[in-house]
Amino acid sequence: MIPGNKKRIIIPTTFIIFGATGDLIRRKIALSLLNLFCKGFMPEKFQVIGISRRDYTDKQFRDFIFENSFKNLKNNFSRADIENFLKKIIYIKGYFNEKSTYEKIKKRLYKNTNSLNFCDNKLYYLAVPPRFYIDIFNNLADSGLTLSCDPKSGWTRVLVEKPFGRDMSTAAKLDQVLGKLFMEEQIFRIDHYLAKDTIRNILFFRFSNIIFEPIWNNKYIEKVEIKLLEDLDIGTRGSFYDNIGALRDVGQNHILQMLALIAMENPSGQSAEKIREGRVKVLKSLVAINKPEDIEKNIIRGQYDGYRDHKDVESTSKTETYFNIKAHIANKRWKDVPFYLESGKALERKKTEIILYFRKTINCLCPRGNKDSRQRNILSIKISPREGIFIRFWAKKPGLYSDLEPRDLEFEYNKIEDKNTDEYDKVMLDCMRGDQTLFTSTEEVKLAWKYITPILRNWSNTKLHIYEKGTHTNI
Ligand code: BG6
Repeated sequence: MIPGNKKRIIIPTTFIIFGATGDLIRRKIALSLLNLFCKGFMPEKFQVIGISRRDYTDKQFRDFIFENSFKNLKNNFSRADIENFLKKIIYIKGYFNEKSTYEKIKKRLYKNTNSLNFCDNKLYYLAVPPRFYIDIFNNLADSGLTLSCDPKSGWTRVLVEKPFGRDMSTAAKLDQVLGKLFMEEQIFRIDHYLAKDTIRNILFFRFSNIIFEPIWNNKYIEKVEIKLLEDLDIGTRGSFYDNIGALRDVGQNHILQMLALIAMENPSGQSAEKIREGRVKVLKSLVAINKPEDIEKNIIRGQYDGYRDHKDVESTSKTETYFNIKAHIANKRWKDVPFYLESGKALERKKTEIILYFRKTINCLCPRGNKDSRQRNILSIKISPREGIFIRFWAKKPGLYSDLEPRDLEFEYNKIEDKNTDEYDKVMLDCMRGDQTLFTSTEEVKLAWKYITPILRNWSNTKLHIYEKGTHTNI
């Protein structure tokens, strides 16, 4: 079940997706829309307009979606459900920088087979590389596609993918354009990590249990590790990735958002405003790493051997596929606690996890002479591939002696039966409902870039470690 009430949206809604034949629609968006449709969460009347450069008719585009997204589905969607959903999809061939594309959208919004009206809800989804954003925003505005018909008519919202910009100044420029056309409540910047159940659970877990919050600080926690490690390499994403690198791809967004949730204060309420404010405060307190010598001391960056052989990657590319940053937060709670932020491609295995290492027990009843430095408590929030929360504690080994041994308390998500929703289901649903809690605010994006930009600016002079594919971490 998708959380939240199941009240259906009454105003008909059109989803206009730029980049409709891309990787994202194939892997995520189409499936999420189908899932919401089959579970009764879509508006009573809706249509999906896909826009891309390929020469497709509506029928060919529907076949494309079926082949790429639905054909091998293991879920129990009936053929009739899939067909009914596909009927809602139409296609427009067009280039994002050409005015004629937007004229075609307008025409199809006015006159279409699904009997929706131009004045109804319009959701523009930019599933395209960030370099197209400015063109799309400007053209949407110039063609009048962002205007409401009257105050009582439907909403217009825009969903954008990350990374939002390349650095502080490009993000600010994008914000300037976006800010002219849309109000903050119309802008939904996706960070799909925020919509993962395991990550959403961080705040509930921290602030719904009396036993954790009192020790969630530098007095009891020695260090925190946030890892987003992947076994896969960049595959066919060479042209996207070589321009971006690991730090922009997942550091500026997913990893800093996980850090913000682990480190923030109690938001004292579940409203989007309060939770975003809490995340903002953490990002504001990050200690800048901006001098070359600090970068050298606190950051490792790497590239896997063979990266430069990928299609569309420069043969002399210095783009990082791995980083490990020792970050600090300058506030009372976290003073002197290092947060290790680590991510990499083509590593030994996929593992996304947040681990809190507690300090040594004071006056421990440890066996005499036991100097085992591992004898600490550990709390681990596992995000992928295992999902759950694990607590490592020490207990007496059964038997005649007084030895200790580690034991785990665990809660695992995959033991729960109804877990067949994806984070993109939640992203789409919350955007339709206008709930921005799981989306990043303008301020958060700005602060994340503020932290990342000096690192990016300086680290081309620091050593780039070349690692073997399949390497264990800690390069
Ligand atoms: C995406 C990045 O945002 O997140 C990818 O662009 C990365 O490079 C992916 O692989 C990881 O997400 P997940 O949900 O598979 O852990």
